[in-house]
Formats: sequence, structure tokens, C-alpha cells
Amino acid sequence: MERELALEIARVTEMAALNSARWMGLGRKMEADDAATTAMRMMFDTVSMDGTVVIGEGEMDEAPMLYIGEKLGTGDAPQLDVAVDPLEGTNILAKGLWNAMAVVAVAPAGTLLHAPDMYMEKIAVGPKAKGKVDLNASVAENLKAVAKATDKDISDVVAVILDRPRHAKLIEEVRSAGARIKLISDGDVAAALNTAFEETGVDILFGSGGAPEGVLAAAALKCLGGEMQGRLLPEDDAQLERCHAMGIKDLDVVLGMEDLVKGDDAIFAATGVTDGELLRGVRFIGKSRAKTHSIVMRAQTGTVRFIEAVHDLSRKPNINRLTK
Ligand code: FBP
Repeated sequence: MERELALEIARVTEMAALNSARWMGLGRKMEADDAATTAMRMMFDTVSMDGTVVIGEGEMDEAPMLYIGEKLGTGDAPQLDVAVDPLEGTNILAKGLWNAMAVVAVAPAGTLLHAPDMYMEKIAVGPKAKGKVDLNASVAENLKAVAKATDKDISDVVAVILDRPRHAKLIEEVRSAGARIKLISDGDVAAALNTAFEETGVDILFGSGGAPEGVLAAAALKCLGGEMQGRLLPEDDAQLERCHAMGIKDLDVVLGMEDLVKGDDAIFAATGVTDGELLRGVRFIGKSRAKTHSIVMRAQTGTVRFIEAVHDLSRKPNINRLTK
């Protein structure tokens, strides 16, 4: 993929963030998600690529835009798999909490796992602990491995976990192992991303969350030299069939980085919608300007760029047409 594509993809996430940020704290997550999706969809039309959505807003019959199988871009080469989460953390934005982001990953066609909309058990770590953790190992073993890899006492290791009743046992196991915990209300893509940045104060992500989010997080960690492992957790016959259709017969199988994102040619971009440990949320300055904060990375080179952009909204006809 041409390196210029990275900037184009960041433009896409910026636009989704700008358009959804005005819904912060309004308690209307559907409208906020629609705003992000509409803006993202519109920006994709300007990108020179022949993209197909493999992770999106749902199946064709349930999502009007950015549905799985939808073609994106101008139709020119390269042929790409596109994974989107226009608003990762709809509840977060609705409440004005931390870590809502607009997220996109692109990679050569056929390289992103077409993860169905079901839960995935996940473990994610930054570069230091890459190759040291194992979803099949116990929580205590993984925490010990992370402590050793990061040169910390286990009592200084921080695990990030979605605050859900289904994680009660997991939380207990982390506590018994002597590590600390950061419980989050939503947003495990940001949580996985954060494990690769010391300043965020988290070392490992544990627990189950959305499988599509797992692939997005894996794309980010591939660029960052970290690691993500996942196991699909189908909950009914239909979900079980989806796994089989994907060729996953053995549900115990641990999906590694190469299963989630094949090769080394992914691009990942995210723009903060609300403030997070890594990215600041959108700031509106006066009536016509706004600031966005994004991360954009390429797995091929490992370059990680943070982009702070100031947008003159009066000169962005598209966003003016969209914003509420
Ligand atoms: P949405 O943006 O779709 O609301 O997803 C937010 C999220 O917290 C993800 O980050 C996470 O993977 C998933 O939901 C967890 O699902 P659940 O809320 O069912 O535990």
C-alpha cells in the first residue's frame, strides 16, 4: 500500500470524530453513531482505493452504510479489506466519558479476519510482552510474564478489563495474582492500544469484548509491535454456524496475530472523539474551528504518527452539511 494512504485514512477518522463529537453527553448513542458513520462513509468516497468492508456496521440488511461487503473508495487499485468502527464507544460518547474514538484499519484484500459480530476472549499486550503471553495460560502466569517482560513487580502491573458481570471471576483472579486493575465501562480497542504506550499506565488487556473490535485492535498492535490473541465465543447456533463458515471448526483455537491480521501491510488510524489516555477528544474553538487528535500507523514501517489538526469548519463544506 502507498504510504500516502495513511494520511487519507486519518482524514476519514478525523471527519467521523468531528461529526460525532457534537453528540457528546447527549445520551443519544444511535444518533451519534449515525453521525460518525455518515461522515466516515462520505470521506471514503474520496480515497483512491478499491476497498471492501469486512468489519463494519453490520450485515447489508441491517446497516444502511458501511455494511459488510460494501465497496468503498474510488475503485482504483489497491484492493483492500477495510475494517471500520466509526464510533467505538457509543455509550462512552453518549455519557461524555473517556476513550470514544473513530477507528479504521485497512490492509491488502484477504488479510483481515472477517470477524463476525460475536464476543471474543482477548488478551493484548505491548511490544515488551510480545511473545510472552498465552490465552491458554492462567491469568497468574500471564501477569507474571508481563511483570518480567516490563521489569516490574507484579503489584505494579495494571490489567485493563471491561467492567462486566461476566468478568467477575477474571477480576478475582487478577486480584489474587497481586496485580492492579483498571476497570473500563466500554472501549476495549483503546484499552488494547494503550497497552503499547507506557504513559497510559496499562500493561495488559484481559476479557471478552466484540470480535470485530478485536481485529481492529490487532491491526493497531501489529503496527506497534505488540500482540493480541483471541478466541471466538459463539453464543447460539447462528453464531456457531458463522464460525464454521469461516473455517473455524475448533472453537478452542487461539487466533494469533497472523490469523487476525495477515502479513505486515496494515494501516491503522484512530481519532479521539472524547478524551482518552492516548488521544484527546475533539475541541471546538469558537464557532468555526475544531481541533482533532489522531494516531496513524503503518505496520510495514512501524511509523507511529500523532496528528493534531486544526480544522476550519467554515471551509469544510462537507462537514458543515453534516453537523447537527
Ligand atoms: P460500541 O461502540 O459498539 O458500543 O462498543 C463498545 C464496546 O465496549 C467495545 O469496545 C467492546 O468490544 C464491546 O462494546 C463490549 O461489548 P459489551 O458491551 O456487550 O460487553
